Amino acid sequence: MPDRPIVLLLSGPNLNLLGERDPAVYGTATLDDHVATATAAADAAGLELEHLQSNHEGALIDAIHGARGRCAAIVINPGAFTHYAWAIHDALDAFAGPVVELHLSDPKAREPWRHLSVVEPVASATIAGQGGEGYRLAIEAVAGMLSG
Ligand code: DQA
Repeated sequence: MPDRPIVLLLSGPNLNLLGERDPAVYGTATLDDHVATATAAADAAGLELEHLQSNHEGALIDAIHGARGRCAAIVINPGAFTHYAWAIHDALDAFAGPVVELHLSDPKAREPWRHLSVVEPVASATIAGQGGEGYRLAIEAVAGMLSG
């Protein structure tokens, strides 16, 4: 166990394509750029950042289970799993610490099928529509929750 509390950042399907994928919606920064932003924010707050990206729902669920009792908080951009992956909802519900739901875009301002988030009911906070800044804001939100 490191000295610093661990924050697990999870990135869902297609986020590995950031930088190339629909830049008008998601911007030109890559996922590595966003992870670097989150890591810098975590360092500044005395937190340790771990990151996993997967295109597979089960891999994300396994990572959430692995965070139980080991990580202090989870920040998750579930990608399109946001809108229908109730198994991710249930896995997050079984995690004791704060969960921050994160989106680059604002799904509720987009197509109707994106308006439902199955993660929202088990999230302590949702940050959406802030682009890459959202990664810093999400870590700062977690730091506030862990210290308060
Ligand atoms: C997203 C929004 C989702 O609706 C979409 O499926 C994504 C990315 C976002 O970061 O804005 O893959 O989570």
